[in-house]
Amino acid sequence: MTADDRTAAQPPSAAGPAAPAAADPALADSAFLRACRREPVPHTPVWFMRQAGRSLPEYRKVREGIGMLDSCMRPDLVTEITLQPVRRHGVDAAIYFSDIVVPLKAIGLDLDIRPGVGPVVERPVRSRADLERLRPLEPGDVEYVTEAVRMLTAELGATPLIGFAGAPFTLASYLVEGGPSRNHEHTKAMMYGDPELWADLLDRLADITTAFLKVQIEAGASAVQLFDSWAGALAPADYRASVLPASTKVFDAVAHYGVPRIHFGVGTGELLGAMSEAGPDVVGADWRVPLDEAARRIGPGKAVQGNLDPAVLFAPREAVETQARRVLDAARGLPGHIFNLGHGVLPDTDPDALTHLVEYVHERTAR
Ligand code: CP3
Repeated sequence: MTADDRTAAQPPSAAGPAAPAAADPALADSAFLRACRREPVPHTPVWFMRQAGRSLPEYRKVREGIGMLDSCMRPDLVTEITLQPVRRHGVDAAIYFSDIVVPLKAIGLDLDIRPGVGPVVERPVRSRADLERLRPLEPGDVEYVTEAVRMLTAELGATPLIGFAGAPFTLASYLVEGGPSRNHEHTKAMMYGDPELWADLLDRLADITTAFLKVQIEAGASAVQLFDSWAGALAPADYRASVLPASTKVFDAVAHYGVPRIHFGVGTGELLGAMSEAGPDVVGADWRVPLDEAARRIGPGKAVQGNLDPAVLFAPREAVETQARRVLDAARGLPGHIFNLGHGVLPDTDPDALTHLVEYVHERTAR
């Protein structure tokens, strides 16, 4: 099948509640979606968190003079930036270029993404009165997302597009702290000190996150990933009592679409079992737990994603191959492995090292 055939196989409008992957047999049959369903694959699929971004000179060029949040609202730029790593590295999936705070900006919160810092919120959410600022997200608030996803799925053909959102806890951390935080002290103070307010905050965020994922799925995304990047800051008992219900609500609310749902966090070795109970189809692990042990903690019936340390890419090529082989060896015999890093691509990573890693994993796992 040629690229043209694949493009032509896409329906002109991929909108609607049906699982979009069903529309194109080659897409539904892609290595990435097969691995998510724990079916046999021609090779282990590979994609990288933060594959679009500062590691790519072509990204830095198109972003010149344009703010991060502004770029997320321009479908032409989103499409170009999302496609860049697919073209360059030959990864098995694209991830929609956006940010976890985009839906919060879209409901009118006064926040910005500062270069080298991250999301910063002008007025942190600390009281019940502050909750009123968290109104529900309507699809009309993010029409540029619908448009960009449609443009992208038409361009991508048989390559799956992964949509994503921030999980309620990680979003709450930015909102309550007012920005990135090492200790999450204000967030935890609310969680322990006012459990009712905390539960209401996470519930509102679960609904906003769900609405944002629905927009992406209905426009044509083939899978979705829920990023709970900072959940690893929590003890398992607190995660279960105070966070798991809200994340479960999100997974339940999008289950009927039938698109694979991925759950990921950093430093979550002790939480993998609980994160699996939230109901995803795939669980991502960082590099601190070998994948065979991660799979044991995640339990039966789920695919696993991960988990090369992103810093390994700064080592010489042979060392990268040795460490990639360790990941593949740990994943041997696991039905459903998606190769990824244990967290996002670091901005100073040599893009050629990433391209080589994709080739290496494909060759090494060709069956
Ligand atoms: O390729 C991809 O993975 C898709 C793009 C993507 C971005 N943010 C683009 C981005 C994704 C999936 C995210 C999610 C995100 N954003 C998370 C969860 C994933 C993770 O890394 O744990 C989190 C915690 C955020 C919040 C956030 N936004 C941070 C910590 C930063 C980095 C700040 C910095 O400058 O170092 C951002 C900004 C951001 N989001 C950038 C990109 C490419 C860098 C800004 C830029 O290029 O100007």
